[in-house]
Amino acid sequence: MAGKPFCQNGQDTEQAAQSGLGARAMAYGRLPLPADLNWLWVVGAVLCAVLALMVLTGLSLTLAYTPDATLAFGSVEGIERRLPAGWLLRAMHMTGASFFMLALYIHLLRGLYYRSYQPPRMGVWISGCVLLVMAMVTAFAGYVLPWGQMSYWGADVAGKAVGALPLIGGWLEGVFLGGDTPGTPTLHRMFALHFGLAFLIMAMVVGHITAVHARGSSSPSGRPITQTGALPFHPYFTVRDMLATVLVALGFVAVLCFWPDIIVESANYRPANPLHTPADIEPEWYFLPFYGMMQAVPFKLGGLLLSGGAVAVLFAVPWLDRAAGSLRPVPTMVKAGALFLLVVSAVATACAGLHHMQGGWLLVARLGMVGYYAYFVLYLPFCSRWQQGKTA
Ligand code: HEM
Repeated sequence: MAGKPFCQNGQDTEQAAQSGLGARAMAYGRLPLPADLNWLWVVGAVLCAVLALMVLTGLSLTLAYTPDATLAFGSVEGIERRLPAGWLLRAMHMTGASFFMLALYIHLLRGLYYRSYQPPRMGVWISGCVLLVMAMVTAFAGYVLPWGQMSYWGADVAGKAVGALPLIGGWLEGVFLGGDTPGTPTLHRMFALHFGLAFLIMAMVVGHITAVHARGSSSPSGRPITQTGALPFHPYFTVRDMLATVLVALGFVAVLCFWPDIIVESANYRPANPLHTPADIEPEWYFLPFYGMMQAVPFKLGGLLLSGGAVAVLFAVPWLDRAAGSLRPVPTMVKAGALFLLVVSAVATACAGLHHMQGGWLLVARLGMVGYYAYFVLYLPFCSRWQQGKTA
C-alpha cells in the first residue's frame, strides 16, 4: 500500500523535542515505517517484552537468593519449595532465558537475510552485536548461580578456556574464578555480573531502538520507503507487535505448564560436587554451537579463538557485504539457501557439542564449523562483489 511519509522534514520530531516527552512519544507513534514490513519485524518488540519479564522475575528471585558456595543451592531449593509462587518465578526466569535467546537468534537471522546491517543501519547492527555478547555473558553468569553440578563444572570449563589465552590467560582466569577453582568468590563475581549487565542491557536496548528510529527500518523488499509506501508506527505496527507478544506469551505459558523440563538440564538439580566430574559437561542449548566449535579443535587456544571468532565475525558483517544500493539483486533462492546452510551448520555443530567429540561427531562439528564460517568469509564477500559486477 502506497502512502506519503508521515514525518516530513523531521517536523514532528522537532516539535516533539520542543514540547516534552509526551509529544516525543506521539512523534514516535507517527514514525513512518515501510508499508511492506512482514511478521519478522515483530521480534524486536517480543524481545523487549521478554527482557522486561526477565528483569522483573530476576529482581524478585534476588530477594531470596544467596551467592555463597555453601548456601546458593539451598537458597534456590528454598525458592522452589518455600517461597510463595517461587517455583513459578524461577520457571519463568529459566524458560524466559531460552525464549529470549531464541528470539535473539531469529532477530539476528532476519537482519542477515534482509541485510539490515547495510548503510545507514551499520550502527544499529553493531549495537545489536554488543547486545548479543552482553546477553550471552549474562546468561552464562546466571547459569552458574544455582550452583548445581552443571553450574560448577560449566564455570570450571569456562575458567580453563579463558586461562588458555596467551599472556593474560592466567590473570584473567584468576579474575574470573577469584581463586584456583570455582567457589564463593566466583559466585560473587557471577552474581554482580548477572545483576549489573541486566541494567546495562536495558540501557543499550534504548540506544539500539533510538538508532533504529533515527535511521529508519529496512524493508523486506529492500526498496526505499519512498517506493514501498509508508505507514505510521501506531496503530499499524503497534497492534501487530502486541498481538505477536500475546501469542508468544501463550506459547510461553504452554511450555511452562506442559513441558516445564524441556530445557532444564537435570544434572543441575544435583548440588555442585567438586570431587565428581559429570560424564558430559554441556552448556545451555543456545551455547551449544559455540561449545561444539570449541571442542572440535584439538588444542584449547584454537578452540577458544574459533568459537569466540564465530561471534566476533558478526561485528564484521557490514564490512564483509558492502553492496548497499546495488542494482543487481541476489536471487531469493541463493539468499535463502545460504542462510539455510548457515543454520544447518550451526545446528550440526550444536548436536556434535552434545556428544563425545570423536569419530563421526568430530567430523560433523568440523564440517559445521566450516559451513558456518563459509557464510561469512566466502558467501557474503562473494555476493557483494557479484552484485557490484566485480566478478565474471
Ligand atoms: C536485547 C536484544 C535486542 C532487542 C531488545 C532488540 C530490539 C529491536 C527492536 C525493537 C527493533 C525494531 C523492530 C524490529 O525491527 O524488529 C530492532 C531492530 C533491529 N535490530 Fe535489534 N534488538 C536486540 C538485539 C539485536 C541483535 C543481536 C542484532 C544483530 C546483531 C540486532 C539488529 C537489529 C537491526 C539490524 C535492526 C533494524 C532492522 C530494520 O532494518 O528494520 N538487534 N531491534
